Amino acid sequence: MRQQSVLVALASLTALALAATPNVIVIMADDQASDTLLDSMSVMPNVKSLIADKGITYERHYCTVSWCCPSRVNFLTGKAAHNTNVTGLEAPWGGWPKFVNQGLNKNYLPVWLNDAGIDTYYVGKFMNAYTTENFLKPAPKGWTDFSMLLEPGCYDFMHSIWNEGDKVVKKPGIHTQKITNEKTLQYLDDAAEARKPFFLMVAPVAPHVEITQSGVVNNPPPMPAQKGLFNDRIAPRRKNFNPDVSSGASWVANKRKLTEKEVKAGDAHHASRLRSIAGIDDMVKLIVDKLKDKKLLENTYIIYTSDNGYHISNHRLLPGKRCGYEEDISIPLLMTGPGIPQKRTSTIVSSHTDLAPTILKLFGVPQRPDFDGSVIEYTDSALKNSKRKEVVNVAFWDPDVAHENVEWKKSTPAQVYRNVWKSIRLQTAYGDFYYSVWCDGSKEFYDMDDDFAQMSNPLRTPLATTAYKKTYFSRPFAQLLTRLDTLLLITKTCKGDSCRHPWRVAFPGGKVNYLYDAMDEKYDRFFAEQPKVDFECVPGDIRERSGPEKVEVFVERGKRALGEREVRKLLPSFWRR
Ligand SMILES: *[C@@H]1O[C@H](CO)[C@@H](O)[C@H](O)[C@H]1NC(C)=O
Repeated sequence: MRQQSVLVALASLTALALAATPNVIVIMADDQASDTLLDSMSVMPNVKSLIADKGITYERHYCTVSWCCPSRVNFLTGKAAHNTNVTGLEAPWGGWPKFVNQGLNKNYLPVWLNDAGIDTYYVGKFMNAYTTENFLKPAPKGWTDFSMLLEPGCYDFMHSIWNEGDKVVKKPGIHTQKITNEKTLQYLDDAAEARKPFFLMVAPVAPHVEITQSGVVNNPPPMPAQKGLFNDRIAPRRKNFNPDVSSGASWVANKRKLTEKEVKAGDAHHASRLRSIAGIDDMVKLIVDKLKDKKLLENTYIIYTSDNGYHISNHRLLPGKRCGYEEDISIPLLMTGPGIPQKRTSTIVSSHTDLAPTILKLFGVPQRPDFDGSVIEYTDSALKNSKRKEVVNVAFWDPDVAHENVEWKKSTPAQVYRNVWKSIRLQTAYGDFYYSVWCDGSKEFYDMDDDFAQMSNPLRTPLATTAYKKTYFSRPFAQLLTRLDTLLLITKTCKGDSCRHPWRVAFPGGKVNYLYDAMDEKYDRFFAEQPKVDFECVPGDIRERSGPEKVEVFVERGKRALGEREVRKLLPSFWRR
């Protein structure tokens, strides 16, 4: 009798625990930049009222590679691209076969969730080089069910190709967003019926350009309901919009001004992207209505984001991504759900590396020791007490010779693989910075508080560098640069703990945790003597060609501090070599 009631009590406890396990939906757009940069949320009234007004908008969320496949793999694994080695779209650098070869198909988010008893569903674009040929060879692991777009029909909006179960199905004449909506709602019905906690990822191919199966590239075609919308909208005229004086570094600094025709085409492109984004917004309403209908809304987290950002005519660039400028790397992150404060904005720094840890936390599944990221704070108290690092490492390994269809010759490797760069984006209590190093030796620094448009790079010429008189933390500019370069040196190959606490690599004692601590005079000589970030123009993460990797560990040696002349001598190491 007594035993029985204990059992009953146990059973109801288990039921309670299960009921308390929430559901998580991630909606990942394709190429949508942050609202402040490319004006995208103004056409998303549903995302505003149903997610932003009921949750947190993270204003400093970044991708770590501004390109679809590496960024999605970064998100799905919680690991930096330099640790997945999925750095491109196609073999040998990236794509679905590379993901499988790297052993990641057995070791990523849906597998961990599924092992923890959570149902997992996927709809939409999954990974580049996932095709009608290699479909199910092997099957993507970890998903309870999935409907994925298959190349060559992934970006062919009116002739998309999907898997349905183990069949390849062509869908001529129906807009791909409409199919995405239907499949998503079907999975929500399935999930409700299964009465188990679920993870659903929806990845519409919007607002990506259309690429038809014959290879023609078009603006994204509108859903029927979106035709004619936003005809009057033009790309935002930020300070860096097709400027009279070139900006940036390396090949970007050599770009000619865009013609009027190119600017106009960019504006038309912007308008059609907004129509495409409006299609995602309609889907968000359908999802929330379905959750309400199935009484699941109260217990479901919704995360809205994008794989990478996008630029249109900024820095004289034709529409695209793959750069390190704010337009390309700053992406939306919005989150709502049980216990999340409403109508909140946050400036804590986070990246896609942090989302898998966050999703495990939402489900109450233990963190993984090999994560490079950490849980993004989402409760009032956690946000207030956040001690997270201030830096995001972003990088690009360009295997693509067709980039930016421009004025350059395919002669030396440096010209072919010229879009190879590594950078850090820092948001500190004392300043907001971007620092990057390119494979041709060019460097960039932007004080984002003064120059959010990234228009004047004091590292562009020796003259500009010496003329730059701003001090940081009451210290000369050169002192800030040695710290930033060392931080980039650490983060470009960090792993696990060293990604979460980069300064501790050089200061294992824990005395330096933030840039502010590192600026102390007593470390001047230490930072000055570190090797500088310096790597070759080669595609992919080839460590032998990526220059110095190791930073020294700081030891108090009672060395004399640097004199002013020595400080001035530091600067040339930051000039273009
Ligand atoms: C990444 O993959 C490329 C291509 O297979 C290979 O050449 C490179 O050595 C790999 N890098 C690392 C760090 O494993």
